[in-house]
Amino acid sequence: MSVSQALDEIKIGGLGASRRRVEDDRFIRGKGNYTDDITLPGMLHLEILRSPLAHARIKSIDTSKAWDIPGVHLVLTGEMMATRNLAWMPTLSYDTQAVLATDKVRFQGQEVACVIADDPYIAKDACEAIDVEYEPLPAIVNPAQAVADGAPVIRDDKENQPDNVIYNWEVGDKAGTDRAFEQADVVSRLRLHYPRSHPSPIECCGSIADFNRATSKLTVYMTTQAPHIIRAAVALVAELPEHMIRIVSPDIGGGFGNKVPVYPGYVCSILASILLERPVKWIEDKSGNLISTGFARDIYLDGELALRKDGKILAVRMHADADHGAFFSDAQPSKFKIGLLHSTFACYDVPVAHLTARGTYSNKAPGGVAYRCSFRVTEAMFFQERMIAAAAADLGMDPAEFRRMNFVTDEQFPHRTPFGFLLDSGQYAKCLDVGLKAVGYEDFRRQQEEARKRGKLLGLGISTMTEPLGAGNSREYDILGIKMFDSAELKVHMTGKAILRTGAKTQGQGHETTWAQIVAHELGLPAEDVIVEEGDTDTAPFGMGTYASRSTPVAGAAVSMVARKIRAKARRLAAHLLEVSEEDVEWELGRFYVRSSPDRGVTIQECAMAAYSNMPDGMEPGLENTAFYDPPNLTWPFAVYLVTVEVDQETGVWDVLNIVAVDDCGVRINPMIVEGQIMGGLTEAYAMANMQFITFDAEGNCVGANYMDYLLPTAWETPGFELHSEVVTPSPHHPIGAKGIGECAAVGGPAAFVNAVIDAIAGTGVRNIDMPLLPDRVWEAITHGHDVSGAPPVRADD
Ligand code: CDP
Repeated sequence: MSVSQALDEIKIGGLGASRRRVEDDRFIRGKGNYTDDITLPGMLHLEILRSPLAHARIKSIDTSKAWDIPGVHLVLTGEMMATRNLAWMPTLSYDTQAVLATDKVRFQGQEVACVIADDPYIAKDACEAIDVEYEPLPAIVNPAQAVADGAPVIRDDKENQPDNVIYNWEVGDKAGTDRAFEQADVVSRLRLHYPRSHPSPIECCGSIADFNRATSKLTVYMTTQAPHIIRAAVALVAELPEHMIRIVSPDIGGGFGNKVPVYPGYVCSILASILLERPVKWIEDKSGNLISTGFARDIYLDGELALRKDGKILAVRMHADADHGAFFSDAQPSKFKIGLLHSTFACYDVPVAHLTARGTYSNKAPGGVAYRCSFRVTEAMFFQERMIAAAAADLGMDPAEFRRMNFVTDEQFPHRTPFGFLLDSGQYAKCLDVGLKAVGYEDFRRQQEEARKRGKLLGLGISTMTEPLGAGNSREYDILGIKMFDSAELKVHMTGKAILRTGAKTQGQGHETTWAQIVAHELGLPAEDVIVEEGDTDTAPFGMGTYASRSTPVAGAAVSMVARKIRAKARRLAAHLLEVSEEDVEWELGRFYVRSSPDRGVTIQECAMAAYSNMPDGMEPGLENTAFYDPPNLTWPFAVYLVTVEVDQETGVWDVLNIVAVDDCGVRINPMIVEGQIMGGLTEAYAMANMQFITFDAEGNCVGANYMDYLLPTAWETPGFELHSEVVTPSPHHPIGAKGIGECAAVGGPAAFVNAVIDAIAGTGVRNIDMPLLPDRVWEAITHGHDVSGAPPVRADD
């Protein structure tokens, strides 16, 4: 793009403009419209009774006292749900999940019964009046216990489920990998745990179901990231006609993957509304959200790298043990049981690799949601970058140099990874160079050396990440058989103002701002003349929703494509208005002109008016269209994160000195929004590395499921960031060359912090401290010179 073109784009709020987020106007004025803001006439309130035990047989449930409380309209139990075939529901991973428990409870916080009453307080009191008699069973809280001899079978509700194993899955070339290991000069090994964490959106989950008997229409207002998928699920599970179901996602206060699954509260509020013929609202409280909804991570990894003496990686071998909780319910593209963990080592030129993975049930809430990442890529990148750091140390090589010599080079694109993905584009070494310069790499190493002589521990951690973003394509990716693609519908009114709707759903990412910028870029309409709407299945075209940073790569591409369809029609209108043939018409931002006499032209707005008032004979009137976009490939953004720290060896406390981020997400639609996404991701990465954990005691009690223990970083403790945007490698197959960005820093960030602390304490013999790097764990590692593994408090199997 020339400088003058770029300036024209900025003027209309097009590509590259740091346009202020239009949605923030209503948010900062307190005028957002979240699910809990909605009140419908005659609305009732639903509260859920949750299990206090992690694993127990239900002997009896007595609801009589709850029914007697004035203001109670309905008490639902699993037994009642079962009479309507709704006690269990299918999950997004071909498993089943209890809606309300019938036979057993399988995790602490599981939904046992619910009450619908005039207000939430009455409903809560009535829940407490329900008497449940449990017979406790031994609990399983990690994969080792799940597969131990004599382990109780958690899912004894399922036929053909003799044990707690969900799947054994493998990918890659085992024989080739074994051969490469035989030839290795050095084998570097690391055992790691990525602890269970929780997306913790500010707004909890919730729904308002409103069934209208007169019209037979069910409307559900809810905080979902994927409204159309929910509509399909309701149609299939509740056996309601799909065209009589309307799902509306109003404003959403953060999703981060937590709002993809279907939760029992949704199902119960829908059934209650159908039974009572009144709107029923369920709004989860914070502890309900933190104890029972979509957890993430919880994977143990054994990783090995086969290395040549000079530092070349010959092969990668990995085994992952994934703890999915009581129900295998996370969304993942159907073929990939461990949800793209095998995107690991994509940016390194590794000749051969083999990954095995085992998924097991445990007595924990369902886990494995893609918390701010493309399915399991956060774990994939964390394991990769921790293994890379350990291997460089084992070889005695500089970690930056080790990465550089193993990177896929610019000339190797498109590059096939050892696990079969095709990388679209990238400039990995250049990103690293920018990062090393920004952090003052050589200087820091000198300072580190000197500081060490004075007993002061400084460390520098590097992490890279490349993330597979934009599922589809539809050939390879589906969820429950529904192919992964997305859509956009654009209606240009006669005055040149427009409304755009997509199948994605923003949860704070700023789609209302950036989608209008894409339209501005494609059509030359000022972005402020384009209003964006998402989240209403009655009006939006079908889409798979927003998660896994798929919006820009897929729905964003659909926006481009639909705008191009509009432009193609506008060109025919322009030719008609200018009285020349279409071939003689040229396009510049916002205007068609006659090639031989550039002064003669018409604006896009004039074409819009002509579409309704002066179209050529035989042309269909109007200027509206829809595009369904099936991406040819994933987009693969790349990033390098560098963190420097100082560790206090007396206390184990570590302070961040500097964070440098070099992100290459292709063409940036809105640089300010992109920077916001990176800062948010780095903040979450810092929290994961430093302070967050949810763990389980031997009885399966969820320890730390409150915001006194599960810490969300505020501006006070979050360090500053230095962001670099100078490397831009457009995706060759995306219409505007954009790649996703929303999750990159949360995906790649954690390893940079851990690598920095491990680098600081090099010389103690410590190879690993599992996250979170709490001061006592760092202190223990330094003082005793040994690794600190597992989730705190120490796992029961240690
Ligand atoms: O799917 P999700 O919206 O969570 O993630 P994304 O597609 O990475 O986009 C996050 C936000 O950054 C959106 O507002 C995008 O339009 C914006 N973005 C951008 O301005 N330029 C890019 N190259 C990628 C994303």
